[in-house]
Amino acid sequence: MSAKILSCKITAAFLSLIIAEKCGAYDVMFKHSLVPHGQPLVIKCSLEKSFNFESGDCNLTWYKVGNQTAVPRDKLSRIHQQKSLIWFLPAILEDSGNYECVISCRNLTSCSKMSTEVTVFERTDGLCLNEKFAVEEVVFTSSSAKVVCPHLDHFRNEENILPIHWYKDCQLLEGKRFAFLNSDLMIFNVTMQDQGNYTCKTTYTYNGKQYDIARDISLIVEVSPPKMPPEISYPQNNSIEVELGSQVTVDCNTTGADGFEVFWTGNGVYIDVFYVSRIFAKPNNEETAYDGRPMYSVKLIISEVYSEDYEQPFICQASNAFGQVASYIILKHRVPDVQRWLTGVFVSFLLLMFIILIVYKIFKIDLVLWYRNSGCAFVSKEDGKIYDACVLYTKGCGGSDFYRLETFVLRILPNVLEQQCGYNLFILGRDDLPGEAMVSIADETFKQSRRLMIILGSETFSCTQLEDAPEQQLALYSALIRDDTQVILIEMDGMQDYASMPESIRYIKQKHGAVQWKGDFSEKSCSANTRFWKSVRYQMPAKKKESFSEVYLSPQTLDNSAAKRN
Ligand SMILES: *[C@@H]1O[C@H](CO)[C@@H](O)[C@H](O)[C@H]1NC(C)=O
Ligand SMILES: *[C@@H]1O[C@H](CO)[C@@H](O)[C@H](O)[C@H]1NC(C)=O
Ligand SMILES: *[C@@H]1O[C@H](CO)[C@@H](O)[C@H](O)[C@H]1NC(C)=O
Ligand SMILES: *[C@@H]1O[C@H](CO)[C@@H](O)[C@H](O)[C@H]1NC(C)=O
Ligand SMILES: *[C@@H]1O[C@H](CO)[C@@H](O)[C@H](O)[C@H]1NC(C)=O
Ligand SMILES: *[C@@H]1O[C@H](CO)[C@@H](O)[C@H](O)[C@H]1NC(C)=O
Ligand SMILES: *[C@@H]1O[C@H](CO)[C@@H](O)[C@H](O)[C@H]1NC(C)=O
Repeated sequence: MSAKILSCKITAAFLSLIIAEKCGAYDVMFKHSLVPHGQPLVIKCSLEKSFNFESGDCNLTWYKVGNQTAVPRDKLSRIHQQKSLIWFLPAILEDSGNYECVISCRNLTSCSKMSTEVTVFERTDGLCLNEKFAVEEVVFTSSSAKVVCPHLDHFRNEENILPIHWYKDCQLLEGKRFAFLNSDLMIFNVTMQDQGNYTCKTTYTYNGKQYDIARDISLIVEVSPPKMPPEISYPQNNSIEVELGSQVTVDCNTTGADGFEVFWTGNGVYIDVFYVSRIFAKPNNEETAYDGRPMYSVKLIISEVYSEDYEQPFICQASNAFGQVASYIILKHRVPDVQRWLTGVFVSFLLLMFIILIVYKIFKIDLVLWYRNSGCAFVSKEDGKIYDACVLYTKGCGGSDFYRLETFVLRILPNVLEQQCGYNLFILGRDDLPGEAMVSIADETFKQSRRLMIILGSETFSCTQLEDAPEQQLALYSALIRDDTQVILIEMDGMQDYASMPESIRYIKQKHGAVQWKGDFSEKSCSANTRFWKSVRYQMPAKKKESFSEVYLSPQTLDNSAAKRN
């Protein structure tokens, strides 16, 4: 008998070995159960559904991995199996490990095994949340939200209508804002402040013994989007200036609509997201606004602007459950920047004027002389005057400087102006007859002269006061009074002490300036093309070119001047 039992046991062991081996290939799922030390735990074999146990053809057995002995079916055992469930009443630290449920059937061809891991941990007192154990739940800000106390299914039956207590951060929850519905917690008027660590606690009574059950929940509160139509932040029925043929990209930025609810139309036609068209749309990544609404942006891309695109609205439309909005953009021709253009023209003009001024300043004399020489110059018609210039100089008191002055006035000046340039001069002291009344000559001559030329020697005023020479005095006055006679002031050799000069001279110097003679008596200095003579010629009246050569060559003129000298 005992041998039979023994053999039976051996057979059973052998069979289970075969089963175990055969089922090795049929592991179907893994599960991980976490439970604090001292709390009850129930695990259901999830294979159960696919087998028919009613017929008795199949058996479901729980094992602890590594222990050939099946978990007892004795309901009073701390760990026992019952139908497809394995019970830990309660679980203790040593129970940690892998458990498996094996389903074996009479025909031995169908066998399945499920493995599950159980971790029993020490619950730390004073901690409001055992992070490993906590279940994460998410609710939205709204008028009410439900928080579930998880994994209580097998602890609820008719005998166990569980009173559940809810804690937040170890504080018992009370008040109008909280309601307790079966195993759930209801929170009204949810705000961000409701986010935090929650614990639900209850008891389970089995076989006259009470077990504590606690579940940790990490509650996350998310802002729920307001219930309103979407908004388009851009475009805003505005226009942009673009150039013909250019590429244009316009964002349509919306808030509150999903991607498929945002699109562009042009000319009433939906603009597709195909890249093959000249005009297409390109969706962008979605972002979330601070209030939880989606932010979606769709680009309108015109790869080349045609003239037909102008003045035609491109409309962006967005919609959601609460309404729809639209906003358009219009392309306009880019008008040239008038102001910038004008500024540019003005600046160029100023610059040109400046350059012309500089050039004129530098080449004024040469230009005028060249112009006169060119023969185009308009020579004023006969004004009845005989002389081009009346020349005055201070006869002074002798000395080398006075000799220089006389040489200049009587030799060089006539040589250049009369012989080379053909001017007709009246030189006081050369062309006046001795004994003639100075005053009458001077007055007469001035009336017949186009210019008055005053030559100041360097010693002029140290030796003789100009005021003492009545003819010069008179000439000056008449020049000043009759402003139509221009005065040419020539300074000989170096600085003149104007402070000691009569006021009339100072006035002329200030008004017309002076030309300075720094040359010697060489041939070069006597050329009409030196800077000095150009300045003098510039101040002299214009001379006809014909008359220039005429006078220059005419022996009669020479005779005249010779006659004058005599
Ligand atoms: C194997 O399991 C049985 C039944 O659960 C138990 O009595 C026995 O102590 C276990 N053996 C070992 C070595 O854990
Ligand atoms: C199932 O278990 C019962 C009793 O525990 C046994 O009589 C039966 O033969 C088993 N069936 C299979 C298929 O192992
Ligand atoms: C073995 O028995 C099970 C349960 O009755 C059945 O589902 C399965 O099809 C059978 N397998 C074979 C090969 O007959
Ligand atoms: C929720 O808020 C509304 C309006 O603010 C208020 O009328 C209502 O009494 C609040 N409900 C609770 C339970 O506090
Ligand atoms: C929730 O618990 C975790 C872990 O103990 C802690 O880091 C976190 O600050 C707690 N949250 C709140 C809102 O108290
Ligand atoms: C743009 O125009 C549409 C009608 O075409 C109008 O519904 C919308 O309110 C306007 N949007 C703005 C920002 O003016
Ligand atoms: C539209 O949104 C995108 C992405 O948020 C941003 O880069 C772009 O500047 C926005 N465009 C306009 C016109 O506001």
